Amino acid sequence: MADLPGTWIEGLRLRRAGFDLADPDLCFRPLHGEGKNLRCDRFGPVCWFYRYASGEPSDSEVAQFSAFSQAAGARHWHSHGMNNRGSDPHTRRHVTSPGAPDTWRARENGLHFELRASSGQSPGLFLDQRDNRAWVRRHAQGARILNLFAYTGGFGIAALAGGASQVLQVDVSRPYLDWARTNAALNGIDDDCVEYSAVDARLLVDGCHRRGRHFDGIICDPPSFGRGRGHSSRLFRIERDLGDLLSSCLRLVAPGGWVLVSSNYEGWNQAHFEGTIKRLGADIETAPGAGDDFRVVGPSPMLKSCILRL
Ligand SMILES: C[S@@+](CC[C@H](N)C(=O)[O-])C[C@H]1O[C@@H](n2cnc3c(N)ncnc32)[C@H](O)[C@@H]1O
Repeated sequence: MADLPGTWIEGLRLRRAGFDLADPDLCFRPLHGEGKNLRCDRFGPVCWFYRYASGEPSDSEVAQFSAFSQAAGARHWHSHGMNNRGSDPHTRRHVTSPGAPDTWRARENGLHFELRASSGQSPGLFLDQRDNRAWVRRHAQGARILNLFAYTGGFGIAALAGGASQVLQVDVSRPYLDWARTNAALNGIDDDCVEYSAVDARLLVDGCHRRGRHFDGIICDPPSFGRGRGHSSRLFRIERDLGDLLSSCLRLVAPGGWVLVSSNYEGWNQAHFEGTIKRLGADIETAPGAGDDFRVVGPSPMLKSCILRL
């Protein structure tokens, strides 16, 4: 058994108060501020290490990944290199335990999700949004929900589990929307309640406005920076474009409705983020944000989120 840093073991001990590590499908963050250049999420049977150091993991790191995964209740692990390989393109970016699955399932708050190792930096679920998804679920009864930047559909699925009457999942990426469909099917969700739209979120919002379409709840979780689909698509820069996007969203909100907005943009803290949003004149409240497993040891979570009401 490899020697594990005392901070990792202590971090796990503290998290045991909130999470049943023996649950085979459990999702949580076992390692956040404790690991130098390292974060870890557990998705059911697999620990996923986000590794920010350069080069490939050494033998002793590999031994630590195995020992820590076991201590956190997972049989397998994947380690994904988050750095640009730059001048060393032959470095293996992705290393796994022997026999680690490429596709597997896990459960969050009773909902099932498919995880995929081949999809990039994350296997398909951002766990810092767990409590925000739970908030959406609690506020979705009978509601028409618009999930912008839907990714693998987590917020929309939480809304449907909470009794939403209709969900529109919007993402510029068709493969992500197909994955969202798979996740919906895993949860026995009736296709009639869900629409999928593979367009730029800004075009979708403008189109809904032109057609007079309204929603009772909107989730807006854009990337910090990105381009929509096609040559003519405009670049999205959160610090420049978030205000316009949110004021367009607010025009789509039915009386009594809400917009949940969040961002991981590194250039803002929660105060900056809320400052940008306050200018829109809506009432704002702080959303639940990242859970306690992201707060055991500093640094504080990157996720900023709040709820707007007209
Ligand atoms: C930060 S992820 C969203 C995570 C998601 N809200 C969740 O927590 O489940 C960003 C997503 O936005 C999508 N995206 C990026 N630019 C977009 C655009 N202009 N319009 C619509 N979707 C976009 C990406 O394909 C990606 O799936």
